[in-house]
Amino acid sequence: MTETTGDSPSLTQKPVLVFDSGIGGLTVLREARVLMPERGFIYIADDAGFPYGGWEEAGLKDRILSLFDRLLETYNPEVCIIACNTAFTLAGAALRARFPEMTFVGTVPAIKPAAERTRSGLVSVLATPGTVKRAYTRDLIQSFASQCHVRLVGSENLARMAEAWIRGETISDEAVLAEISPCFIEEEGRRTDIVVLACTHYPFMANVFRRLAPWPVDWLDPAEAIARQAKRKIGSMESVDHPEGFDFAVFTSGQPDFTTRRLMQGFGLKIGQASPGML
Ligand code: DGL
Repeated sequence: MTETTGDSPSLTQKPVLVFDSGIGGLTVLREARVLMPERGFIYIADDAGFPYGGWEEAGLKDRILSLFDRLLETYNPEVCIIACNTAFTLAGAALRARFPEMTFVGTVPAIKPAAERTRSGLVSVLATPGTVKRAYTRDLIQSFASQCHVRLVGSENLARMAEAWIRGETISDEAVLAEISPCFIEEEGRRTDIVVLACTHYPFMANVFRRLAPWPVDWLDPAEAIARQAKRKIGSMESVDHPEGFDFAVFTSGQPDFTTRRLMQGFGLKIGQASPGML
Protein backbone atom coordinates (compact mmCIF):
# COMPACT_ATOMS: atom_id res chain seq x y z
CA MET A 1 0.00 0.00 0.00
CA THR A 2 1.36 3.40 -0.86
CA GLU A 3 0.46 6.84 0.28
CA THR A 4 1.13 9.63 -2.12
CA THR A 5 0.57 13.04 -0.66
CA GLY A 6 3.83 14.19 -2.11
CA ASP A 7 5.33 15.48 1.12
CA SER A 8 7.88 13.67 3.18
CA PRO A 9 6.76 13.39 6.82
CA SER A 10 9.17 14.41 9.52
CA LEU A 11 10.92 11.29 10.79
CA THR A 12 11.09 12.58 14.32
CA GLN A 13 7.44 12.11 15.03
CA LYS A 14 4.99 9.31 14.34
CA PRO A 15 1.44 10.26 13.38
CA VAL A 16 -1.80 9.73 15.23
CA LEU A 17 -4.09 7.56 13.10
CA VAL A 18 -7.81 8.24 13.40
CA PHE A 19 -10.11 5.60 11.95
CA ASP A 20 -13.82 5.48 11.11
CA SER A 21 -16.09 3.94 8.51
CA GLY A 22 -16.77 7.39 7.11
CA ILE A 23 -16.53 11.01 8.12
CA GLY A 24 -17.95 10.62 11.66
CA GLY A 25 -14.48 10.26 13.15
CA LEU A 26 -13.87 13.91 12.28
CA THR A 27 -15.91 14.76 15.39
CA VAL A 28 -13.14 13.09 17.39
CA LEU A 29 -10.28 14.37 15.23
CA ARG A 30 -11.29 18.00 15.80
CA GLU A 31 -11.07 17.52 19.59
CA ALA A 32 -7.80 15.61 19.33
CA ARG A 33 -6.24 18.42 17.33
CA VAL A 34 -7.25 21.02 19.87
CA LEU A 35 -5.63 18.98 22.64
CA MET A 36 -2.57 17.92 20.63
CA PRO A 37 -1.75 20.72 18.19
CA GLU A 38 1.85 19.52 18.00
CA ARG A 39 0.82 16.17 16.51
CA GLY A 40 0.42 15.10 12.89
CA PHE A 41 -2.75 13.18 12.03
CA ILE A 42 -3.76 10.64 9.41
CA TYR A 43 -7.48 10.13 8.97
CA ILE A 44 -8.65 6.83 7.51
CA ALA A 45 -12.23 6.46 6.29
CA ASP A 46 -13.26 2.96 5.27
CA ASP A 47 -15.94 4.40 3.05
CA ALA A 48 -15.81 1.34 0.80
CA GLY A 49 -17.35 -0.52 3.74
CA PHE A 50 -19.71 2.24 4.91
CA PRO A 51 -22.06 1.95 6.70
CA TYR A 52 -20.65 -0.47 9.26
CA GLY A 53 -23.92 -0.49 11.20
CA GLY A 54 -25.60 -3.16 9.09
CA TRP A 55 -22.65 -5.56 8.70
CA GLU A 56 -22.69 -9.10 10.00
CA GLU A 57 -20.16 -9.33 12.89
CA ALA A 58 -17.64 -11.94 11.68
CA GLY A 59 -17.26 -10.34 8.25
CA LEU A 60 -16.81 -6.86 9.67
CA LYS A 61 -14.26 -7.98 12.24
CA ASP A 62 -12.18 -9.71 9.54
CA ARG A 63 -12.36 -6.64 7.36
CA ILE A 64 -11.15 -4.34 10.14
CA LEU A 65 -8.31 -6.65 11.17
CA SER A 66 -6.98 -7.08 7.66
CA LEU A 67 -7.29 -3.37 7.01
CA PHE A 68 -5.18 -2.68 10.10
CA ASP A 69 -2.53 -5.14 8.90
CA ARG A 70 -1.99 -2.76 6.01
CA LEU A 71 -2.52 0.48 7.84
CA LEU A 72 0.01 -0.20 10.57
CA GLU A 73 2.57 -1.42 8.08
CA THR A 74 2.10 1.59 5.85
CA TYR A 75 1.78 4.43 8.34
CA ASN A 76 3.54 3.17 11.48
CA PRO A 77 1.45 5.37 13.80
CA GLU A 78 2.21 6.17 17.42
CA VAL A 79 -1.36 5.53 18.47
CA CYS A 80 -4.61 4.56 16.73
CA ILE A 81 -7.86 6.20 17.70
CA ILE A 82 -10.74 3.98 16.62
CA ALA A 83 -13.27 6.77 16.28
CA CYS A 84 -16.11 4.40 15.53
CA ASN A 85 -18.30 2.71 18.16
CA THR A 86 -19.49 0.11 15.68
CA ALA A 87 -15.92 -0.95 14.92
CA PHE A 88 -14.41 -0.72 18.38
CA THR A 89 -17.19 -2.52 20.30
CA LEU A 90 -16.73 -5.38 17.85
CA ALA A 91 -13.02 -5.48 17.09
CA GLY A 92 -11.26 -3.50 19.83
CA ALA A 93 -10.15 -6.57 21.81
CA ALA A 94 -9.11 -8.42 18.65
CA LEU A 95 -7.06 -5.44 17.44
CA ARG A 96 -5.23 -5.23 20.78
CA ALA A 97 -4.58 -8.98 20.74
CA ARG A 98 -3.32 -8.99 17.15
CA PHE A 99 -1.15 -5.88 17.46
CA PRO A 100 0.09 -5.91 21.08
CA GLU A 101 2.77 -3.27 20.39
CA MET A 102 0.23 -0.72 19.22
CA THR A 103 -1.84 1.55 21.48
CA PHE A 104 -5.50 1.60 20.52
CA VAL A 105 -7.83 4.20 22.01
CA GLY A 106 -11.43 3.34 21.28
CA THR A 107 -14.84 4.90 21.19
CA VAL A 108 -17.50 3.06 23.16
CA PRO A 109 -21.01 4.18 24.17
CA ALA A 110 -20.73 6.67 27.06
CA ILE A 111 -23.05 4.62 29.27
CA LYS A 112 -21.00 5.00 32.46
CA PRO A 113 -20.98 8.84 32.49
CA ALA A 114 -24.63 8.87 31.50
CA ALA A 115 -25.55 6.60 34.42
CA GLU A 116 -23.58 8.85 36.78
CA ARG A 117 -25.28 12.02 35.57
CA THR A 118 -28.90 11.06 35.00
CA ARG A 119 -31.40 12.41 37.49
CA SER A 120 -34.48 10.69 36.16
CA GLY A 121 -32.78 7.30 35.75
CA LEU A 122 -34.00 7.11 32.14
CA VAL A 123 -31.13 7.07 29.66
CA SER A 124 -31.21 6.32 25.93
CA VAL A 125 -28.31 5.20 23.77
CA LEU A 126 -28.61 6.27 20.14
CA ALA A 127 -26.30 4.14 18.00
CA THR A 128 -26.05 2.03 14.87
CA PRO A 129 -27.91 -1.29 14.74
CA GLY A 130 -24.52 -3.01 15.08
CA THR A 131 -23.52 -1.20 18.27
CA VAL A 132 -26.83 -1.85 20.04
CA LYS A 133 -26.49 -5.58 19.31
CA ARG A 134 -22.99 -5.91 20.70
CA ALA A 135 -22.21 -7.96 23.80
CA TYR A 136 -19.79 -5.11 24.68
CA THR A 137 -22.67 -2.64 24.92
CA ARG A 138 -24.80 -5.00 27.02
CA ASP A 139 -21.84 -5.54 29.35
CA LEU A 140 -21.39 -1.79 29.80
CA ILE A 141 -25.02 -1.49 30.86
CA GLN A 142 -24.73 -4.39 33.25
CA SER A 143 -21.50 -3.12 34.79
CA PHE A 144 -22.28 0.59 35.07
CA ALA A 145 -25.97 1.28 34.62
CA SER A 146 -27.89 -1.57 36.21
CA GLN A 147 -29.72 0.96 38.41
CA CYS A 148 -31.00 2.86 35.34
CA HIS A 149 -33.52 2.13 32.65
CA VAL A 150 -31.37 2.18 29.51
CA ARG A 151 -33.12 2.15 26.16
CA LEU A 152 -30.98 1.08 23.21
CA VAL A 153 -32.06 2.74 19.97
CA GLY A 154 -30.44 1.29 16.85
CA SER A 155 -30.90 3.69 13.96
CA GLU A 156 -30.79 2.25 10.45
CA ASN A 157 -30.48 5.59 8.70
CA LEU A 158 -28.90 8.23 10.88
CA ALA A 159 -25.23 7.64 9.96
CA ARG A 160 -26.09 8.09 6.26
CA MET A 161 -28.21 11.12 7.06
CA ALA A 162 -25.36 12.67 9.06
CA GLU A 163 -22.99 12.12 6.13
CA ALA A 164 -25.45 13.81 3.79
CA TRP A 165 -26.07 16.64 6.26
CA ILE A 166 -22.42 17.45 6.79
CA ARG A 167 -21.97 17.51 3.00
CA GLY A 168 -24.64 20.18 2.81
CA GLU A 169 -27.66 18.16 1.66
CA THR A 170 -31.10 18.90 3.07
CA ILE A 171 -32.59 16.33 5.40
CA SER A 172 -36.24 16.60 6.35
CA ASP A 173 -37.16 17.19 9.98
CA GLU A 174 -39.65 14.31 9.78
CA ALA A 175 -36.92 11.88 8.72
CA VAL A 176 -34.64 12.90 11.59
CA LEU A 177 -37.48 12.87 14.10
CA ALA A 178 -38.44 9.33 13.07
CA GLU A 179 -34.91 8.21 14.03
CA ILE A 180 -34.59 10.03 17.34
CA SER A 181 -38.19 9.76 18.69
CA PRO A 182 -37.72 6.27 20.21
CA CYS A 183 -35.12 7.83 22.55
CA PHE A 184 -37.77 9.78 24.42
CA ILE A 185 -39.59 7.89 27.16
CA GLU A 186 -42.05 9.13 29.77
CA GLU A 187 -42.69 6.76 32.62
CA GLU A 188 -44.37 7.29 35.98
CA GLY A 189 -43.84 11.04 35.86
CA ARG A 190 -40.19 10.70 34.82
CA ARG A 191 -38.65 11.48 31.44
CA THR A 192 -35.49 10.54 29.59
CA ASP A 193 -32.91 13.18 30.49
CA ILE A 194 -29.76 11.91 28.71
CA VAL A 195 -29.27 10.60 25.19
CA VAL A 196 -25.85 9.09 24.56
CA LEU A 197 -24.58 9.83 21.05
CA ALA A 198 -22.99 6.42 20.52
CA CYS A 199 -22.02 6.88 16.89
CA THR A 200 -19.35 9.40 15.99
CA HIS A 201 -21.42 10.64 13.06
CA TYR A 202 -24.25 11.90 15.24
CA PRO A 203 -22.65 14.92 16.97
CA PHE A 204 -22.63 16.63 13.56
CA MET A 205 -26.43 16.73 13.84
CA ALA A 206 -26.67 17.60 17.54
CA ASN A 207 -28.16 21.02 16.84
CA VAL A 208 -30.88 19.47 14.70
CA PHE A 209 -31.58 16.91 17.42
CA ARG A 210 -31.85 19.70 20.00
CA ARG A 211 -34.28 21.64 17.86
CA LEU A 212 -36.51 18.63 17.19
CA ALA A 213 -36.41 16.98 20.61
CA PRO A 214 -39.83 16.78 22.32
CA TRP A 215 -38.15 18.05 25.51
CA PRO A 216 -34.61 19.17 26.38
CA VAL A 217 -32.13 16.42 27.19
CA ASP A 218 -28.37 16.23 27.58
CA TRP A 219 -26.92 14.87 24.31
CA LEU A 220 -23.75 13.17 25.49
CA ASP A 221 -20.87 13.33 23.01
CA PRO A 222 -17.73 11.54 24.25
CA ALA A 223 -15.38 13.00 21.60
CA GLU A 224 -13.47 15.23 23.98
CA ALA A 225 -13.05 12.43 26.54
CA ILE A 226 -11.64 10.17 23.83
CA ALA A 227 -9.20 12.85 22.72
CA ARG A 228 -8.09 13.30 26.34
CA GLN A 229 -7.55 9.60 26.69
CA ALA A 230 -5.41 9.58 23.52
CA LYS A 231 -3.36 12.48 24.85
CA ARG A 232 -2.81 10.66 28.13
CA LYS A 233 -1.56 7.61 26.24
CA ILE A 234 0.77 9.55 23.97
CA GLY A 235 2.18 12.01 26.43
CA SER A 236 2.86 15.62 25.59
CA MET A 237 5.50 16.99 23.25
CA GLU A 238 5.28 20.65 24.05
CA SER A 239 8.59 21.70 22.57
CA VAL A 240 8.06 19.98 19.21
CA ASP A 241 6.81 21.90 16.16
CA HIS A 242 3.87 20.58 14.21
CA PRO A 243 5.40 18.12 11.71
CA GLU A 244 5.29 18.51 7.94
CA GLY A 245 3.80 15.84 5.72
CA PHE A 246 1.02 14.40 7.85
CA ASP A 247 -2.54 15.72 8.16
CA PHE A 248 -4.06 13.87 5.28
CA ALA A 249 -7.10 11.64 4.82
CA VAL A 250 -7.27 8.35 2.96
CA PHE A 251 -10.55 6.88 1.73
CA THR A 252 -10.60 3.14 1.08
CA SER A 253 -12.88 3.65 -1.93
CA GLY A 254 -10.10 5.76 -3.40
CA GLN A 255 -12.79 8.09 -4.70
CA PRO A 256 -13.98 10.74 -2.28
CA ASP A 257 -16.26 13.12 -4.15
CA PHE A 258 -15.73 16.84 -4.53
CA THR A 259 -17.82 17.78 -1.48
CA THR A 260 -15.97 15.29 0.68
CA ARG A 261 -12.62 16.66 -0.48
CA ARG A 262 -13.74 20.14 0.38
CA LEU A 263 -14.96 18.99 3.77
CA MET A 264 -11.57 17.41 4.49
CA GLN A 265 -9.86 20.66 3.55
CA GLY A 266 -12.09 22.41 6.05
CA PHE A 267 -10.66 20.09 8.69
CA GLY A 268 -7.14 20.87 7.52
CA LEU A 269 -6.63 17.51 5.80
CA LYS A 270 -5.24 16.87 2.34
CA ILE A 271 -6.41 13.82 0.40
CA GLY A 272 -3.96 10.94 0.33
CA GLN A 273 -4.35 8.04 -2.02
CA ALA A 274 -5.15 4.46 -1.04
CA SER A 275 -3.43 1.88 -3.17
CA PRO A 276 -5.75 -0.55 -4.98
CA GLY A 277 -4.59 -3.33 -2.63
CA MET A 278 -5.57 -1.62 0.57
CA LEU A 279 -8.24 -4.23 1.29
N1 DGL B 1 -19.28 6.32 13.00
C1 DGL B 1 -19.62 4.97 13.29
C2 DGL B 1 -19.82 4.75 14.79
O1 DGL B 1 -19.32 5.49 15.62
C3 DGL B 1 -20.69 4.25 12.54
C4 DGL B 1 -21.22 4.62 11.21
C5 DGL B 1 -21.53 3.42 10.35
O2 DGL B 1 -22.63 2.83 10.43
O3 DGL B 1 -20.64 3.04 9.59
O4 DGL B 1 -20.44 3.81 15.18
